[in-house]
Amino acid sequence: MKIGNLEVLGNVFLAPMAGITDPPFRKTVQRFGISALWTEMISAEGLVRGGANFPTMNLEDHTVPTVFQICGKDPFVMAEAARIVEERGASAVDVNMGCPSRKVVKKGSGAALMRDLPLAASIVRAVRRSVTISLTVKIRSGWDESSQNAPELARLLESEGADAIVLHSRCRSRAHSGEASLQMIREVRNTVTIPVIGNGGIRSEEGATTMIADTRCDGVMVGRGALGRPWLPGRILQGLGHEVPFERRTVPLIDVVRDHFQFHLDWWDVRTSVRRMRKHWGWYSKGFPGGTEFRQSIFRENDPSRVISSAEDFFGKVVVS
Ligand SMILES: Cc1cc2nc3c(=O)[nH]c(=O)nc-3n(C[C@H](O)[C@H](O)[C@H](O)COP(=O)(O)O)c2cc1C
Repeated sequence: MKIGNLEVLGNVFLAPMAGITDPPFRKTVQRFGISALWTEMISAEGLVRGGANFPTMNLEDHTVPTVFQICGKDPFVMAEAARIVEERGASAVDVNMGCPSRKVVKKGSGAALMRDLPLAASIVRAVRRSVTISLTVKIRSGWDESSQNAPELARLLESEGADAIVLHSRCRSRAHSGEASLQMIREVRNTVTIPVIGNGGIRSEEGATTMIADTRCDGVMVGRGALGRPWLPGRILQGLGHEVPFERRTVPLIDVVRDHFQFHLDWWDVRTSVRRMRKHWGWYSKGFPGGTEFRQSIFRENDPSRVISSAEDFFGKVVVS
């Protein structure tokens, strides 16, 4: 699939998730196959001011293109932030027009831009002028149920130079709950000529193939479906007929979680690694008998070797297939 001048293998993407899609998680997903990774959102103001440290921008060991997502509302600042991420090795820059968080929309950024089309247009115009890498915009279906303006916005952003639209097909007022609208993805697909990447509610290979078949979207983006199942995007890619680096269908789960934890330890200090990995233990152990007791015990551990031996005892011989 081509996004502007960026050629990617296949059409399955990892969604930006603040606090989650850090380099260790991206590396874990990448092993199983993914067309491109997204960073979590990066504050354009913070980046331009230069004081903030953004570990998410590190691309060590990344073997697939990584799209850096920036969030803000000032066209000049967004353009400068885009220039910085291009310099830092981003394969493309993505503008966040979908974040529903009160803190973000109160400042006029994220999903608030869906209510200010002239400003949304001038941000994309300014970013387009400041970089040569591809430019994508992640939007929602609209602000709320009564203002679902994704098709109109997508057309405008295309005319300002966006190379692809990522559509999280839920409105801002629904945050992350409820069904994503396939109909809205279809409408946006029929409105623009640039690629449309559908997002929202994909939890299985079937979910992805249904979204593509029903909407004719060009690609799919997986968010929470990859939590505790970092192999899901790769499985979807394989199902769609693309080659993936990790061909084995069956993998011991303990190998996956051990490596994931090791990536944390390579990346963060020990205390931060143990703490940040806790949410992942929760997702990996979801649905397993004895999961509650496992979580209670592993959440108390602070010593990495005890964390690993607790995980070895719990996941035992479970195989991912
Ligand atoms: C914890 C969390 C953090 C998120 N952070 C971001 C973000 O930084 N930028 C963004 O555009 N979307 C963010 N999202 C939204 C996801 O990228 C995605 O659009 C949403 O989860 C819907 O996809 P899903 O149903 O596959 O999870 C976040 C979602 C979650 C659950």
